[in-house]
Amino acid sequence: MGPLVKILISEPLPEVVRQDVTARLSQLGEVWASPDTSEETLAAQVREADIFVVRLAKITAKVIENARKLRVIVRPAVGVDNVDVAAATTAGIPIVYSPGSNSDSTAEHTFALILALAKGIPVGNSAAKEGRWAARGELTSQNRELAGATLGVIGLGPVGRRVAKLGAAFGMRVLAHSQAAQRDEAEETGAQLTDLETLFAQSDYVTIHAALTDRTRGLIGAEALAKMKPSAFLVNTARGPIIDETAVLEALNGGRLAGAALDVFSVEPPDPQHPLLLHPRVLVSPHVAGMSRDSTQRMYDFALEDMDRFLRGEPPIRILNPEALTTSRVKR
Ligand code: GLV
Repeated sequence: MGPLVKILISEPLPEVVRQDVTARLSQLGEVWASPDTSEETLAAQVREADIFVVRLAKITAKVIENARKLRVIVRPAVGVDNVDVAAATTAGIPIVYSPGSNSDSTAEHTFALILALAKGIPVGNSAAKEGRWAARGELTSQNRELAGATLGVIGLGPVGRRVAKLGAAFGMRVLAHSQAAQRDEAEETGAQLTDLETLFAQSDYVTIHAALTDRTRGLIGAEALAKMKPSAFLVNTARGPIIDETAVLEALNGGRLAGAALDVFSVEPPDPQHPLLLHPRVLVSPHVAGMSRDSTQRMYDFALEDMDRFLRGEPPIRILNPEALTTSRVKR
């Protein structure tokens, strides 16, 4: 490809890969970041782009309609729910992405949250630093052991499987619900496949590792929460809209849920006054479960390798919509 290739980035690149990725993309052509992620701005910016590297910005059908020259969307991550995949496919724009690139990071972060909830780490940290050593009493009454507790894993993709294995390693009884996994695949991770009803009723920790789809949107709502133990903890490192935030808040305040750990919100960044963000029994992190210095490099490597393959006329390995290769409106 010649020097006229134009590469749009939806948001500034993560610091840890900025130099490397910018250098790699600059070898192909001119690289620039969109000034903001509003639909209008992205629709205007994408008009000139041949390649679009998308982080968390929402790529709507309207943005894609304006992507007149676009050859490929590069999404260096696992969840692609922020991109209108159907619109891209209809427009003949392939989407390369990075499945499996951050499973260890996400699963480990999930366990960091589970452990922090079970062991009262945030409370103990503040108390000890503020000279409130007597918090030992409160912590002693509330802290729990994971060994022997039941972990409910929703979704048994690469992240869910890793979480199940970690749970088993902690001596937890692991239940899992999956649309796709077979019994033997689940058992290999130490999990027992169950229906959602059983998982909600029996789990001490319910953790979500499913993609955001029409089926999972609002999955953890009032009905699901009513089936859960009042002593249970809810953990979400998948996508915000899988839980109904109002229902979770009501369950917490109504004594029907012990606590929650959320890495993701339905709107990101959440309003600083978001009641879940401020809630004393909710632990949060800023959508960073999958992002570590190790995984972030891998996320970009996977997607950029496939972008290069596509540009060389070879079939990409990790492509979300292979149909788009045949309908591709751009001559490669
Ligand atoms: C992160 O949220 C990802 O989808 O990889």
